[in-house]
Amino acid sequence: MSGTARPSEGAANQSPERAQPANRSHPLPREGGRGVGLFTGTARPSEGAANQSPERAQPANRSHPLPREGGRGEGPSVNTVPVIAIDGTSASGKGTIAARVAAELGFHLLDSGALYRLVGLRALRAGVSLEDGTALAALARDLPARFDGERVFLAEADVSAELRGETCADAASRVAVHPPLRAALLSRQRAFRVAPGLVADGRDMGTVVFPEARSKVFLTASLQERAERRYKQLIAKGLAANIATLLLEIEERDRRDRERVAAPLAAAPDALVIDTTGLGIEFVVAKVLEHYRGRG
Ligand code: DC
Repeated sequence: MSGTARPSEGAANQSPERAQPANRSHPLPREGGRGVGLFTGTARPSEGAANQSPERAQPANRSHPLPREGGRGEGPSVNTVPVIAIDGTSASGKGTIAARVAAELGFHLLDSGALYRLVGLRALRAGVSLEDGTALAALARDLPARFDGERVFLAEADVSAELRGETCADAASRVAVHPPLRAALLSRQRAFRVAPGLVADGRDMGTVVFPEARSKVFLTASLQERAERRYKQLIAKGLAANIATLLLEIEERDRRDRERVAAPLAAAPDALVIDTTGLGIEFVVAKVLEHYRGRG
């Protein structure tokens, strides 16, 4: 997640070259970015961050609340801070790749899926129907969430592990179909666009949230491989997992994400599409960086 709770004043007008990041990137727990590496069993965003060169973002404030809706989430037309939008199917490697690219460039990181998972979790706990878009939007507007490195807190309780589970993943996909909820999260997501740059991963980063992103990437992989990746992640976390069940769950979530009316999962027309089946993390990271640099 972004390294700053609140984008700095005037961030929108800073030149990416001159702007000094106040904070390091704060990756959020995500589908593939924690524990066992997604492709080769290696990548941990925090490791990448720990190896940052001096010119990269400097850690200053690891703990921060969520940028609030209506903060300085400048509209796309006025904000010149570069964005790399990484979208894709569930367990396609978005999280791992986004974290690695952000660490490489010293950019901030937005794991937009975590926001939907948080809303889903909060709704489940509060007994709010996952079908009630208006009530869900209200929950999203007032989300008492805080990100601290890889940990996510909801009302000061560490929900990092719960957030990664399949229950939250399913709830996230269900709440994400509601336009009022998506609208409620829009400016909150845009508020993460802070100098020197942002890597944002999700389903609609390149199509809706940051349509003017400098670089757009769409990741996918075979269903079998994605289920296996998710299986390894869950097992590595000591959670129960079953490949056959995961296959069905991931397929169902993708179908729902693709078929919804509001901001459906889709590659932007100008996105670089990468099928990561059988590819290593480093290869994909290099491709994304090459694409970004080629568009500078
Ligand atoms: O990336 P993830 O697995 O954490 O996302 C969980 C769900 O959240 C996903 O199935 C759909 C929803 N989502 C979304 O609709 N738009 C985003 N930008 C990110 C996630």
